[in-house]
Amino acid sequence: MHDTFDTVITNVRIASMADNGQPYGTTSHTAVGIRSGKIAALFEELPADISATHTVDGNGQWLLPGLIDCHTHLIYAGDRANEFEMRLQGISYAEIAKQGGGIKSTVKATRQASEKALFDSAKQRAERLLEEGVTTLEIKSGYGLDLDTERRMLKVARQLEDALPVSVRTTFLGAHALPAEYSNDADGYISLVCDTMLPDIAANKLADAVDVFCESIGFTPAQTERVFQAAKAHGLPVKAHVEQLSDLKGAVLAANYDALSVDHIEYLAEEDVGHLKDTVAVLLPGAFYYLHETQKPPIEALRKQGIPMAVATDLNPGSSPLASLLTAMNMACVLFAITPEEALLGTTRHAAKALGLNDRGMIDEGLRADLTLWDIDHPAQLVYSINGQRPKARWVGGRHV
Ligand code: NIG
Ligand code: FE
Repeated sequence: MHDTFDTVITNVRIASMADNGQPYGTTSHTAVGIRSGKIAALFEELPADISATHTVDGNGQWLLPGLIDCHTHLIYAGDRANEFEMRLQGISYAEIAKQGGGIKSTVKATRQASEKALFDSAKQRAERLLEEGVTTLEIKSGYGLDLDTERRMLKVARQLEDALPVSVRTTFLGAHALPAEYSNDADGYISLVCDTMLPDIAANKLADAVDVFCESIGFTPAQTERVFQAAKAHGLPVKAHVEQLSDLKGAVLAANYDALSVDHIEYLAEEDVGHLKDTVAVLLPGAFYYLHETQKPPIEALRKQGIPMAVATDLNPGSSPLASLLTAMNMACVLFAITPEEALLGTTRHAAKALGLNDRGMIDEGLRADLTLWDIDHPAQLVYSINGQRPKARWVGGRHV
């Protein structure tokens, strides 16, 4: 049969990241046929009787799925370099937050910023991630904490998808911090999130998921649960920042609400790991590093119980100003002792799961043609070096970018 493709990539080694029993999901295929934005065929040997609009010689390089950064806060105004200085003078992240700095100071700057200013600065940060092979990006709101600014942030996130070669998934994080106008009335603010903000954002289809910062400096488990219930009522899946600074049992609570992911989890108790079977544990080594955290996530227990682990940048102005997913992977290996293969799974197959996406994160027939080509001898090299690699070519939805 004579088969036609939009693009055929030949002469590649493939790390599919699929669960095929081989390290990195390595396959014996050497060529990929792309049609209508999808991986239409994988070939061990390229048949003679096919035709393609574009043919790309991979020169024996490695083809991997596009990378997925499943946790970022990359839309914001201002920066927090002053707090970096304060922390180096011995004041803690939690103490700065209590003094009205931290997330609240970014909220102040973000509320004052125009849509265009937010878009322009976020685009630059997103470009840093894309240069490293990111083809899907999650972006949270949470620096507005009023309907107007939260909406503006999520609109900018949607605009980034139109402006850049990347899929964007948006997450409404209204319950990120208590805005100044609600100080001493956290329950009142949660009512605003659940009864006013969430319905509006859901009706306007601005969010793909809902997140909560469940923490001593964020919201209590009871408040978190109210947001989860409201999200469910609007048909939106939940995710949560949990056990970052203390163990409030937020991960188990989130898992009970079928959370797509539980993120941070440094203080997650080993005995709670068994509850996380149907979710994804998102490791954020950037925040761990930047805040000088010493409590590590329970990696061995997660591994033993087969809980999928993802790795993300958490790119944000306060706890993780890290615009490099490859560096986050390296950090996860060095700081948390996960393997390079686990790190790569964490930014491909498992990151897709953390976003509820089952059409990407691996190289397989029928999946989106989100692909990256790397001039390396082995996939572990991507994780081993720091600022050592850039993809030689990238395809997003089958389009060479
Ligand atoms: O994921 N933990 C809460 N949210 C962010 C920090 C945001 C900030 O400090 O601005 C995080 O670490
Ligand atoms: Fe975060």
